[in-house]
Amino acid sequence: MKKFLGSNKLKTAVFISGTGSNLKSLIKFSLKKKSPIKINFIISSSSKANGLKYAIKFKIKRKIFDYKNKQKDEDLILKQLKKKDIGLICLAGYMKILSNNFIKFNGIILNIHPSLLPNYKGLNTHERVIQNKEKFSGCTVHFVSSKLDSGKIVLQKKVRVNKTDTPKKLSKKILKQEHILYPQAIMKLFANL
Ligand code: GAR
Repeated sequence: MKKFLGSNKLKTAVFISGTGSNLKSLIKFSLKKKSPIKINFIISSSSKANGLKYAIKFKIKRKIFDYKNKQKDEDLILKQLKKKDIGLICLAGYMKILSNNFIKFNGIILNIHPSLLPNYKGLNTHERVIQNKEKFSGCTVHFVSSKLDSGKIVLQKKVRVNKTDTPKKLSKKILKQEHILYPQAIMKLFANL
């Protein structure tokens, strides 16, 4: 892991679409001495994403791509990533589906999903978990593959679902664990390098 300490930290881009609470936790993690990553770039699919405030606060370069022309935007993003020598992409609440061409990106792409994958891929996970009266849900960090929420799992955290949980309550409980899990998954991934 020595390879990614000090000025050699792995250049990382975080992709967001909304609140950006995972982005915030990743930034805080990246600033720790033991962290193998440095966040150099933030991509947002919306100019209204609340998470962009962290880009401003922590003075991280940011760009907005609305995907109106998906292929053109993806090409532009890939160009930017190459120019900035980005080796790791962390999807953090990014609500766009990356094309097969994009995921050929010359580096690692990770995603965090608010369920115990392979269960509950896609949207409205908490609603479906509660509807099905599941006793447990959780969150998963995984590699991004060409199929939605389907790449190899890096790390998972189980969270108990209480009878009184609403989708909102459950989402809050799981989000808290996501903020711990994403940095842990990155540490795990780089421990053997
Ligand atoms: C998180 O719960 C993340 O797991 C989820 O969106 C939320 C973003 O929150 N991602 C997905 O559902 C992707 N399939 P944040 O903007 O506060 O990090």
